[in-house]
Amino acid sequence: MKVQTLAMIMAMTSLPAFAQMATQSNLIAVEPVLEVPTEDYRTGWVQIGAFSVLAENPADGAQEIHAVFIDEDALKAYLAEGRFVEGTKIVKEVWSTQTEDLTTGRASYADTLKGRFVMVADPDAKLGAGPRFGDGWGWAFFPGQETRITDTKDYRDACLACHEPARDQGLIYLQGYPALR
Ligand code: HEC
Repeated sequence: MKVQTLAMIMAMTSLPAFAQMATQSNLIAVEPVLEVPTEDYRTGWVQIGAFSVLAENPADGAQEIHAVFIDEDALKAYLAEGRFVEGTKIVKEVWSTQTEDLTTGRASYADTLKGRFVMVADPDAKLGAGPRFGDGWGWAFFPGQETRITDTKDYRDACLACHEPARDQGLIYLQGYPALR
């Protein structure tokens, strides 16, 4: 009886543990050059622009808000040289939203951080090698609050197709960034 109870408990507890292990095996400690900055970029960096992605029914407002940051030196270098200098890190936050009728009208605002995308400019392919580097950039996504654990195995599968439309802008959606104009 005792053994049976133990076996039952093990069966009950080992299933979620296994599921967790399976998920974690998809997560990879990223190359340091691709990490989400640990200094507080929300106060120290410049938010160069934002995108709102509308809900399926646009009357429901935005389903996500994307906020994009780079550091001030990289911004100044871009404005001077018209290109992202080596090591420029672009952080894109992805937020879930709330939508309310405020005194301005129907407004969506950031609620919970879903994760962060990072791209680091690597024009001469010097900053890293392997499946998260190429096409002039390093590429990684960090789910939730992660800053060093990525689920991006290969940017060619996880990122590139969606950035192709911006190929002639260096793969960056420049149209969303007033600070770069
Ligand atoms: C579903 C398509 C899609 C995928 C997949 C995707 N991106 Fe993007 N990404 C976009 C679009 C569109 C924008 C700009 C508009 C927006 O954010 O809604 C963008 C913007 C960005 C930005 C801000 C700079 C810029 O290009 O404007 C970063 C950084 C970024 N993506 C990184 C990544 C990385 C790293 C991956 C892979 C791990 C990735 N993205 C995968 C579509 C995508």
